Amino acid sequence: MKTDKTFTLKNDQTGEEFTLPVLDGVEGPSVIDVRKLYAETGHFTFDPSYTSTASCKSRLTFIDGDKGILRHRGYTIEELTDNSTFLEVAYLLLEGDLPNKDQMKEFDHNITYHTLVHEQLHTFFRGFRRDAHPMAIMCGVVGGLAAFYHDSLDIWDPKQREISAHRLIAKIPTIAAMTMKYAMGQPFVYPRNDLTYAENFLHMCFALPAEPYKVSKTLSDAMDKILILHADHEQNASTSTVRLAGSSQANPFACISSGITSLWGPAHGGANQAVLAMLREIGSVDRIPEYIEKAKDKDDPFRLMGFGHRVYKNMDPRAGVLKASCDAVLDELGVTDPLLAVARELEKIALQDEYFVQRKLFPNVDFYSGIILKAMGFPEEMFTVLFAVGRTVGWVSQWKEMMEEQSLRIGRPRQLYTGPAKRDYVDIDKR
Ligand code: SDX
Repeated sequence: MKTDKTFTLKNDQTGEEFTLPVLDGVEGPSVIDVRKLYAETGHFTFDPSYTSTASCKSRLTFIDGDKGILRHRGYTIEELTDNSTFLEVAYLLLEGDLPNKDQMKEFDHNITYHTLVHEQLHTFFRGFRRDAHPMAIMCGVVGGLAAFYHDSLDIWDPKQREISAHRLIAKIPTIAAMTMKYAMGQPFVYPRNDLTYAENFLHMCFALPAEPYKVSKTLSDAMDKILILHADHEQNASTSTVRLAGSSQANPFACISSGITSLWGPAHGGANQAVLAMLREIGSVDRIPEYIEKAKDKDDPFRLMGFGHRVYKNMDPRAGVLKASCDAVLDELGVTDPLLAVARELEKIALQDEYFVQRKLFPNVDFYSGIILKAMGFPEEMFTVLFAVGRTVGWVSQWKEMMEEQSLRIGRPRQLYTGPAKRDYVDIDKR
């Protein structure tokens, strides 16, 4: 971390020079430590969308955007999706290492035995319209968990933090499935302790009391892989929202609800639903050139949803995994989707177009995920909810890491004030 490397900043008006320390990470860009900049220079840094700002130290996830690398605690996303399970990745993110058999058994038990929600929550749902967007319900219900679990709200008690973490990871699929059932007017399906995390989630989404429902291995394997791919992703918008909420010492349920809120935006997790809408609007391969031109037209608000990324200037490795599994999942489900052909041709044409090449705009995690989720039978409004199910593990792990820091301080950015200078009040009859 600390080095003897420094940067010197010179005020060209006064000739004053300021020496700023440089901190090194294990890998990735080093940082210039500007924590004393204001005190020493009377100036703030200015970085409105944080393109050059490290907001924290973290040991969870490493991304190399130029090389298209994503690793969790040192393990590549490709190795984890090939060899691990979502619950094992959850343990890895939470605890820092892959679990041994006893640790995995205990963790699996702890999560499994927290999957039920308080029965009163069922009536909580009744307050929403049936046609409410499921993300609107998720924001409300997850934040409302703080009204039910008073025994794990003390954020300074490590044991209560652990119970809240387990409750959130365990209950988020139950609540997500309830939002899907509520929209369909079907009865809620209770979790089952004899199923794996992914099997249980699919069972709660698709089972009906009228007949037995057998979870297909194809679907549960695909679901587990999709959840791994969405688990964590460094300091993205929703994770940064969770950290900022947590820095005020808000309870973990409120923090995760704030993450869900931020994820909903189409520039972020809402993109997977927007990709399907875009592909359906394009409709056929012959209309792709027209939409590529729209995406390049600065006067047209249309963007290629599922393309581009703040960090990846190469293929998002998660998109690569999803693209590879698209054919397998659709073939095994016996589903053909003409939108997949449009997606593949759109990717091919865009990646040959100078506008996209020059700006290093590649498909991101959201470009192919919607096609698989649609083939699995999920309504499009549920796509971002599924993103939230996977990402809750990352949000909770990042929150836990922040709470374990010795120096938790409230996050409080400053600004460049561009409003009116001081002026006197004028009575309304003189304006
Ligand atoms: C996620 O941060 C994370 O890690 C997020 C995420 C995670 O796991 O948490 O990876 C999940 O949110 C993935 C991104 C999902 N969003 C979309 O697919 C929406 C479409 N993408 C864009 O809105 C955009 O690419 C962003 C929001 C993803 C990134 O925006 P940036 O980094 O602010 O980039 P920008 O808007 O400054 O774009 C740079 C240039 C601009 O052109 P110029 O002004 O240089 O001429 O590229 C253009 C943009 O107009 N551009 C696009 C484009 N994305 C960027 N042009 C057309 N289509 C696009 N999709």
